[in-house]
Amino acid sequence: MKHGATPGQAHSSGWTAALLQWYAQHARSFPWREHPTPYAVLVSEFMLQQTRTETVREYFTRWMARFPDLASLAQADEADVLRLWEGLGYYRRARQLHQTAQRIMTEHQGRIPDDPAQLQRLPGIGPYTAAAIAAIAYNRPVLALDGNLKRVLARFFGVDHPIQTPRAARELRERAEPAIPAGQSAAFNQALMDLGAQVCTPRQPRCEACPLRPWCRAFHEGKQHEWPRRQPRKAIPHYLVVAGVWQRGDQVFLAQRPADAMLGGLWEFPGGKVKPGESLEDALRREWREELAVEIVPGPRLGTFRHAYSHFRITLHALRVVYVQGEPQPLYHQKLAWVPLDQLDQYPMGKVDRAIAQRLREEYRQQEARA
Ligand code: ADE
Repeated sequence: MKHGATPGQAHSSGWTAALLQWYAQHARSFPWREHPTPYAVLVSEFMLQQTRTETVREYFTRWMARFPDLASLAQADEADVLRLWEGLGYYRRARQLHQTAQRIMTEHQGRIPDDPAQLQRLPGIGPYTAAAIAAIAYNRPVLALDGNLKRVLARFFGVDHPIQTPRAARELRERAEPAIPAGQSAAFNQALMDLGAQVCTPRQPRCEACPLRPWCRAFHEGKQHEWPRRQPRKAIPHYLVVAGVWQRGDQVFLAQRPADAMLGGLWEFPGGKVKPGESLEDALRREWREELAVEIVPGPRLGTFRHAYSHFRITLHALRVVYVQGEPQPLYHQKLAWVPLDQLDQYPMGKVDRAIAQRLREEYRQQEARA
């Protein structure tokens, strides 16, 4: 047979050496790869859980400057942690990273565990992140099975089960983990990540540039586009949301979301989902009544904002609140606050609320300039 290799015959080694050799020449350069201390790996893996590598670069560098080690992070204020995270999304990750740092200080004498099972008992660390830390920081022979690795290895081994299923993950692990060269797990895993990002891409894999081609089952069977097999996706819901902007002079009313809710701990312009058949104004009146125990008069529309979260999309209309009867009570929120427009930056927010805050500041500046 050509190349002297049998397609999909993974244990005939060769392929792991070819992969590591390719990586030595083509590894991408990232700040978290410069000094891959366990802490640097922990931070980068939390950031990379749902965010693209190119976005994470800058956040990671800023983070390491502000919180250079586990102890400094464990001692930090949650508000500082959230502010540094702002814009990365999925804010629960930031709070869980903070809690994980605190737990490692108290329960593991400040040493980040190298055992995936122990790592998984910490907040925000699932099977993927546990394996990534064990492999990249400590060279433990485990597979950090993210989307890239699943795609590359499903093609390579010709795994036919839908790729999101536990069965597919088990099969990939069973076949790839024994092949990890001793003491080279960090390079092996990151080589597969980089191969997935640069060569074995989802739509147009560049098989001509692939070091694994001689052994790749998908290449030999021409099934690069069939694998990884996917289960049909459910349509993601779309919500119509309304938020109220109550401003007095240069101050605006904000509320801090409950810790255990989505976007927990972040500040927002209060509001909520519009129910079927309800007007924006009725929905805003109802939300402020339910969450803040006040009766309001909604006013003009400030703007419309769209955003896609992981499991749903929203269209949010921001309305001015022109009159409030009663004293707002935090029936739902952790805290309420009047915030000067030039201090809004100090209050961590999600993307949409930050866009509203910026719009308010711009409008206010323009008014000041005219006055
Ligand atoms: N995604 C998750 N971890 C990564 C790493 N260490 N390098 C590149 N991309 C990654």
